Amino acid sequence: MTPAQPDRARAVADDFPSSPSRQRRLDGEFPGLELDSPRPEDGAALWRLARDSRALDLNSPYSYLLWCRDYAQTSIVARDASAGPVGFITGYSRPEAPRTLLVWQVAVDHGQRGRGLAAAMLDTLAHRTGDKLGVEVIETTVTPDNTASNRLFTSFAERHDAPLTREVLFAADAFPEAGHEPEVLYRIGPIPSRAASVLSQTAAVPASTTTPTRSSS
Ligand SMILES: CC(C)(COP(=O)(O)OP(=O)(O)OC[C@H]1O[C@@H](n2cnc3c(N)ncnc32)[C@H](O)[C@@H]1OP(=O)(O)O)[C@@H](O)C(=O)NCCC(=O)NCCS
Repeated sequence: MTPAQPDRARAVADDFPSSPSRQRRLDGEFPGLELDSPRPEDGAALWRLARDSRALDLNSPYSYLLWCRDYAQTSIVARDASAGPVGFITGYSRPEAPRTLLVWQVAVDHGQRGRGLAAAMLDTLAHRTGDKLGVEVIETTVTPDNTASNRLFTSFAERHDAPLTREVLFAADAFPEAGHEPEVLYRIGPIPSRAASVLSQTAAVPASTTTPTRSSS
């Protein structure tokens, strides 16, 4: 396996050039933290955060390493300059619907919770993938007992004025082990600001030279 080329995302300041209030919020509430794309050397820390969450399904260490290499563009970490990653979101662009970002796992270190860090990571990831990949819909699954996760995504939809639908994606009996909660699919979108951005980009290109490269989600 070749070493990964880290997909270093732009700094938050570059992602929100027209949003000084958000930049101030991030600077003020999370001093010393940087929202960045994951690198393979973050993989072990992401595995530890997932393990210590005591809420997520813990995947193999290898899968987190691989994710940091191959899905860096659709994932994000909150990195402390001295302590390393203290939060992450892993996600991917759905192969059959590339404008849909499937958020796979979200975790924030216990000591950093309740301060808006997960919301800031989600906002930033949605913005980056909207800009770079044309993402305008976010999907995730939430188990009915996960109040914090439900609130994180419901609040995201409210904040972005986006429609939110919920339906069971994987029933409890789809899982091999007994006692797993059903996974409820939250589908958020189209996100109005992203849809407007996609439309304006399309409008800026003469129709004769427009080559659709992605299917609609
Ligand atoms: C879910 C999790 C990522 C939230 O991280 P966080 O940084 O504390 O979340 P935020 O501070 O950004 O809060 C986001 C929203 O969730 C709400 N929230 C956060 N923790 C909550 C809790 N324990 N109970 C109820 N609501 C909660 C916040 O009030 C906020 O809602 P608002 O915008 O309406 O005020 C974190 O609790 C965690 O790592 N949990 C374990 C792993 C997990 O369950 N991940 C989600 C499934 S993939």
